[in-house]
Amino acid sequence: MRLALLGCGTVGSEVVRLLHSQSADLTARIGAPLEIAGIAVRRIGRDRGELPVDPAVFTSDPLDLVKRDDIDVVVECVGGIEPARSWLVEALRTGKSVVTANKALLAEDGGALHDAAAQGGGDLYYEAAVAGAIPLLRPLRESLHGDRVTQVTGIVNGTTNFILSAMDSTGAGFAEALAEATDLGYAEADPTADVEGFDAAAKAAILASLAFHTRVGAADVHREGITEVTAADVASAKAMGCTIKLLCIAARGTAADGRETVSVRVHPAMIPLTHPLASVGDAFNAVFVEAEAAGQLMFYGPGAGGAPTASAVLGDVVAVSRNRLAGVRAASESAYADLPVRPMGEALTRYHISLDVTDRPGVLAAVAGVFAQHKVSIATVRQGTAGSGVAGRDEDADLVIVTHVAPDAALAATVQALRGLDAVRSVASVLRVEGSA
Ligand code: NDP
Ligand code: HSE
Repeated sequence: MRLALLGCGTVGSEVVRLLHSQSADLTARIGAPLEIAGIAVRRIGRDRGELPVDPAVFTSDPLDLVKRDDIDVVVECVGGIEPARSWLVEALRTGKSVVTANKALLAEDGGALHDAAAQGGGDLYYEAAVAGAIPLLRPLRESLHGDRVTQVTGIVNGTTNFILSAMDSTGAGFAEALAEATDLGYAEADPTADVEGFDAAAKAAILASLAFHTRVGAADVHREGITEVTAADVASAKAMGCTIKLLCIAARGTAADGRETVSVRVHPAMIPLTHPLASVGDAFNAVFVEAEAAGQLMFYGPGAGGAPTASAVLGDVVAVSRNRLAGVRAASESAYADLPVRPMGEALTRYHISLDVTDRPGVLAAVAGVFAQHKVSIATVRQGTAGSGVAGRDEDADLVIVTHVAPDAALAATVQALRGLDAVRSVASVLRVEGSA
């Protein structure tokens, strides 16, 4: 099996090392030796340390490499939309199999890749694109195909999980925790894709597409990052026996006209400490899958890093190589359900709202009235008194309200109306709540 490796950075270089160190076993597992026929990079002269590969295989022309007739499998570890899409479409269209870790491309235009694979007859595998080393996409795309997945809830971004875990354990603010993540090499120099939720949203789109047999793209995902989460939010969550996580939630639902829908969202949320995802700390990932017959399944492990991600890449390389030797290809994309994506306003969520209010008769009734006007049912109310963890003052009171489930639009409109109420000095924090508490 002759491989073209596109990209030899954090992930690609570990693919080279693992392929070399496991060479004999990989040959035995596949039934033929794997050979790196070419590696395309941007800077040929870059120092890549000790890489067990002939320097002559390096090229700076990825398109020329994927067009070569002697290539069986193209492994893409570059990232981004273009030119990666053009390289992979060319490879697939001409019958090569492709293994990619590129979640951004799959979420932006996975359809183009699947269509090209169907046209060329090769395989398209991308286990490393979501949750790094964790075997997750193969279970969704194969093992669970006899079942009906109802919801996928996950922590799929290691950088933000590290930041939120640090905020929770040390009481640090967002900026301080981000600086620590950067110092330790978790956060990139430009952390926007992670902290603003773009990376998690791409992964959510891929998970939803596989779980619900429907094409979901990055633009279909409601996305909020963690930059607005404050130390006070984290303390408030703690006072309620909860912690804050950046969750990706993909769920089946039913529209008003009875049609089945999916909703896919990424946002920070409070979850009770008893929730299986609450104990996922540091930069780890975990995904909780609920299916009608299987029940609840939990997938946990390292979601990033060169070696863990290379493990997933090589697992795919073995699978597509075996298929090529056997003259078969894996099942095509399963997108037959073609379900509409529900707007965020219709998603059913719960809110945790902290209000700074004037402490005088009738204020609680006025606040409760706003919830009633928007048909939002209140689950719990706490008013701060000294020593309760919610500070009460002479003329102010802190109200913490947790709602029952309601459409997100009704909850957002409630918060908006509360901001306009005379007795409300400020809306100190608004967080969604997930998991039963
Ligand atoms: P890096 O930035 O470390 O490496 C990118 C590689 O691509 C480099 O070797 C670079 O060349 C090469 N490259 C960039 N542009 C071009 C170009 N135009 N032509 C040829 N080569 C090019 O990225 P990572 O290894 O971290 O990520 C690779 C992929 O894996 C991405 O899709 C990412 O989302 C995904 N991924 C990464 C994870 C991680 O933990 N890092 C985890 C899961 C997925 P040069 O070396 O010369 O600069
Ligand atoms: N930036 C990503 C993360 C890398 O922090 O999880 C893995 O996709």
